[in-house]
Amino acid sequence: MKFIEWCGLLQIGHPVIDEQHQTLFKIINQFHQDLEDNKTGKTAVNTLNKLISFAQKHFTDEEKISSDFGFPDENLVEHKKIHEQLVMDIFELHTAVSKASEVDLEEIRTFLTNWIILHVLIEDNKYKAYIFKK
Ligand SMILES: [Fe+2]
Ligand SMILES: [Fe+2]
Repeated sequence: MKFIEWCGLLQIGHPVIDEQHQTLFKIINQFHQDLEDNKTGKTAVNTLNKLISFAQKHFTDEEKISSDFGFPDENLVEHKKIHEQLVMDIFELHTAVSKASEVDLEEIRTFLTNWIILHVLIEDNKYKAYIFKK
């Protein structure tokens, strides 16, 4: 079963960004599936590695694209800081998942939901208006 489902509400309106967000959702669903299948282990950690590297690429691309579309510097600085925090948070999850022999799936679900959905809905939504303007 899919853990998180993409929906139109999450659409930013920029093809590259929307596609990257959907890829992030896909990798997160895969990671969740890995955990459901065998709780911890190499496969889940590998998927988490994939998520971390793709997320870092996405954050860099998003910062550049939103800036190109006129998202003001002061907002961009704030957004970058939030991305840095997201990276630190996901590394923490990585450490926890790598070490643990058993994970609390419910806790991880809450973490991932906040990590991606709330970020896209609230923070990424802040530059959406600039994408529409052009
Ligand atoms: Fe994003
Ligand atoms: Fe973002």
